[in-house]
Amino acid sequence: MNLINNSKTIDSNTSLFGLLGNPVSHSLGHLIHNQAFFEKNINALYLPFKITNIKKGIQAIKELGIKGVSITIPFKQSVIPYLDEIDDLALKIGAVNTIINKKGKLYGYNTDCNGAIKSLKKISTIKDKKICIIGAGGAARAIAFGIKKENGKILIVNRTREKGEILANQIKGELISILDIKTKSPDIIINTTSIGMTPDIYQTPLKKDFLSKKMVVMDIVYNPLHTRFLKNAAKKGCTIINGLSMFVNQGAAQFELFTGIKAPVDLMKKIVFTTVFKSRIMKTCKNV
Ligand code: ATR
Repeated sequence: MNLINNSKTIDSNTSLFGLLGNPVSHSLGHLIHNQAFFEKNINALYLPFKITNIKKGIQAIKELGIKGVSITIPFKQSVIPYLDEIDDLALKIGAVNTIINKKGKLYGYNTDCNGAIKSLKKISTIKDKKICIIGAGGAARAIAFGIKKENGKILIVNRTREKGEILANQIKGELISILDIKTKSPDIIINTTSIGMTPDIYQTPLKKDFLSKKMVVMDIVYNPLHTRFLKNAAKKGCTIINGLSMFVNQGAAQFELFTGIKAPVDLMKKIVFTTVFKSRIMKTCKNV
């Protein structure tokens, strides 16, 4: 769908929203937000911006009067010093994925945490479950704090040990090596890294041998919906959770922060499916 051509409302009063990150080519944020603006008759446009310098990105928000942005890889933590205020949850997590520009003052929020927990709870309980999080970046932090709040037992695996250690200490979890996953035998494994994301779709954060049938395996990557990691997990008989529902949940919460209007969640889900994903993928995923 070409929203620019379909829009009745692009004019000098159009509010601009966007995504700041690097890379951003995989993102489907423009799809859900623009469709929701259109549906709710809001004179606004959402665009992805690939940036290399977060300080300059923040200056651009102020200079251009951009009303709100999503923040993605790798800026969710490094953006914090440039904001005027951070809400309690985002501050506790130490990662921001949403910024609202209120008359030149920038406010940071985190919608990843609740988005991921809602998605996981649809499939599994969390209390007392042994949950292994792969990664220790902004998304991992949001998910780890959400799991801790629900009294799950957290294991952290991360490429850079020091970063993993910091997160594990903060959430009173355990930092383990990737090789320990076999002996620890977690109930749930969540990939929070970008490994396997378009265009690197043949990569996986964990080899098939580490997975067993009783596990719930979740990937926050949503493009492709059916990552190599999830394909391997499905072959092993694991219950799999793709990144779509977390993506839509966090995007819907962002939309509500952007506009103050309830997000058309079902429509957001549908647009992602009908535009990008093939129906056969749905058969193997239970969380949609
Ligand atoms: P986000 O804010 O989206 O979580 P991030 O803060 O850049 O993004 O964090 C990305 C996470 O994915 C990090 O844990 C990163 O590991 P490092 O701490 O070692 O940087 C992990 N990650 C990204 N690419 C990776 C790769 N190719 N192999 C292993 N880990 C990777």
